[in-house]
Formats: sequence, C-alpha cells, structure tokens
Amino acid sequence: MDDLHSIGMEKGLLYETIISTENEAGEPNAAPIGVICKDKREIVLYLNHATHTLENIKINKNFTVNITHNPLIFVNSTISDLDFNYFKKYNDKFYIKEAEAFFTATVESVKEVEKEDNIGKTTVNIIKANVNDIIIKEKQFTPLNRAIFAIIESLVYVSRIELVDDNTRNIYLERINEMTRVVNRVGGLDHKEAMKRILKYLEDK
Ligand SMILES: Cc1cc2nc3c(=O)[nH]c(=O)nc-3n(C[C@H](O)[C@H](O)[C@H](O)COP(=O)(O)O)c2cc1C
Repeated sequence: MDDLHSIGMEKGLLYETIISTENEAGEPNAAPIGVICKDKREIVLYLNHATHTLENIKINKNFTVNITHNPLIFVNSTISDLDFNYFKKYNDKFYIKEAEAFFTATVESVKEVEKEDNIGKTTVNIIKANVNDIIIKEKQFTPLNRAIFAIIESLVYVSRIELVDDNTRNIYLERINEMTRVVNRVGGLDHKEAMKRILKYLEDK
C-alpha cells in the first residue's frame, strides 16, 4: 500500500501543496498550504485564522492534499478563487484535476496556539491529520519543497558576490539570510548542512 514515503515525502520536511476542501454550501475551495510530513501516514498543517481552508476543515474534518507544480494553480488559488473547472470529485471529495498526485486526509486534532515569527504574533491552528487514500496520476512527480530552490538561489548570489559593489553585496547577504531561514523551516538534514556550508564559505572569505 502507498504511503507518504513512497510518494517522495520525507519525515520532517514541509511540502508546498494545494489543499482542496468543501464549504457548507458544497462548493470547492483551494489554497496553497504547507504540509509537514510527520510519519508515513501522518501530516501536520499550520493554518492561519482567517482562511476558508481552516473554516472548511473544521466543518468537514477532512481535506485533500494535491501535489502539483502548476504555477497558475498556485497563483490563482492565492490571489483569487480557483475556477470550478479545475476540480473533480474522488468519491465525495474535491481534488484538483491537474494534480500529479493527491491524497485524502482525516483530521485527528485541531489545536489553537499563539505563534511569533518574522511577521509578528499570530494565532495559528495546528491540524494533525491521518492520510487515507493516495492517488498517483503521473508516473513521475516530486512533492514540492522550497529548500533546494533556496539553496540554488543562495548559490547564484555566492557565485556573483565577488563581482559586485558593497551595497549589492549586502543585499545578497540579506537574501542569503532569508534563504537560510526558509531552509531551516522547510528543509531536511542535507539541505541544512548544504546551507551551513554556504554560510561557512562566506564567513571564511
Ligand atoms: C506557497 C504558499 C504556502 C502557504 N502555506 C500556508 C500555510 O501553511 N498555512 C496558511 O494558513 N496559509 C498558507 N499560505 C497562504 C494561503 O494560501 C492564503 O492565505 C490563501 O489565500 C488562503 O485561501 P483560503 O482562504 O481559500 O483558504 C500559503 C501561501 C503560499 C503561496
């Protein structure tokens, strides 16, 4: 039987997915949401207070995690409502037609906590959920994790840092700091080690 590891999700990493849910009126909703892989069949979400996703999850106690690399789906579901045509039903749950893979999940617990990050103090809901059916639609796909992109972006700055003036250099260092924050939040041990090496290299220069 498929589990999260067999679809390329590693324990402890955070993946950028599109979560589809259903509202009280039976309409579909989609939003980009980070999914932390806790175990083979267990995930955790951190949901901000004012999202439809949280509202719908609290009502239905279930949701669908869609794995996609489609940029328009990410953009449209963030800045507007994703058109109804993007959705289809698997059993009685909405999923996104174009997803490379998707899985359904059932909520185990919802816990409200105060969180302080670089934006300030916010209330977040920690959703623990169990994975049910996993549907793989494309032969090859990789769940989307930002760590490798943050490392690549940092390396681009590293490779240019000798060529630029002091002001630009400081801007690059700030961006690398931000990329380090991303890697530490969403990455695995190898990502964190790679980022450490980048920082050490810059320090030794
Ligand atoms: C890549 C990405 C990841 C996101 N991850 C989360 C998340 O983990 N939790 C959250 O509450 N919002 C997250 N957001 C913000 C929500 O997607 C955004 O607030 C969205 O408009 C919520 O839509 P909804 O009200 O239809 O649920 C993320 C946005 C992006 C672009």
